[in-house]
Amino acid sequence: MTLTLRYMKVPDIKQVSAIDHLSFEPPWPTDSYNFEINQSTVSHMVVLEERQTQTNGASKPEPIRLWDRINRIFNPEPPIPSNRIVGYGGLWKIADEAHVSTIATHPSSRGNGYGEILLAGMFGKALLLGAEYIVLEVRVSNHVAQGLYNKYGFTRHGVKENYYRSDREDAYDMRVMFSTDVVTQYHTLYNDLKIKRPFTDDYTEVPHPRRGIG
Ligand SMILES: CC(C)(COP(=O)(O)OP(=O)(O)OC[C@H]1O[C@@H](n2cnc3c(N)ncnc32)[C@H](O)[C@@H]1OP(=O)(O)O)[C@@H](O)C(=O)NCCC(=O)NCCS
Repeated sequence: MTLTLRYMKVPDIKQVSAIDHLSFEPPWPTDSYNFEINQSTVSHMVVLEERQTQTNGASKPEPIRLWDRINRIFNPEPPIPSNRIVGYGGLWKIADEAHVSTIATHPSSRGNGYGEILLAGMFGKALLLGAEYIVLEVRVSNHVAQGLYNKYGFTRHGVKENYYRSDREDAYDMRVMFSTDVVTQYHTLYNDLKIKRPFTDDYTEVPHPRRGIG
């Protein structure tokens, strides 16, 4: 099994939306993902994908009859595609600001470092895009997410009262200014993360698939 961080594509939307429905109330409308991927001029949507490389024939014994052996050579069994999206995120880059629009991991995959991979990817993308700071909103009761954001240097900048329409809970506005110290600390965290939880990063330094750089 390998882990790959990459730009979100349209075929991912079904799995992404399933995680969204398990994570947020209300979830984003499915059309919003289409817009972010196909039309937005500021959005950098990301997914973390688990890839399995097992094949059907791998565990089967070799056939004994000559005809079966020949048949196996000319008709090899195809690999079983079992790629799974385990988390996703969204980043908007507008002028000097990078804004984390969303982030979630599948409930069955939480606590494995996947949320951190997604946040680290978006943080690095924000730096490469030339943002001066990165900002997000988080429920005041969401201590798990706040723990993740604190780790990357986010601090509370203010409170947005009644921010969440569903229950009128307040949000913290959390942000990090990209000082030299913050950037150095980010690279340390990113390198540690790659050792702790190896993954292929096809997002952070890869140009946007539709817009190229920017
Ligand atoms: C927030 C969320 C994305 C974190 O993803 P995750 O894959 O569970 O997190 P990770 O395993 O990468 O952990 C990263 C950090 O989060 C914090 N964290 C994770 N699980 C935690 C827990 N059970 N209790 C407290 N802190 C926790 C820790 O700071 C952790 O860093 P550490 O491993 O160095 O201790 C995930 O819980 C989620 O999808 N929640 C629902 C959606 C949501 O709330 N999104 C945030 C909206 S602002």
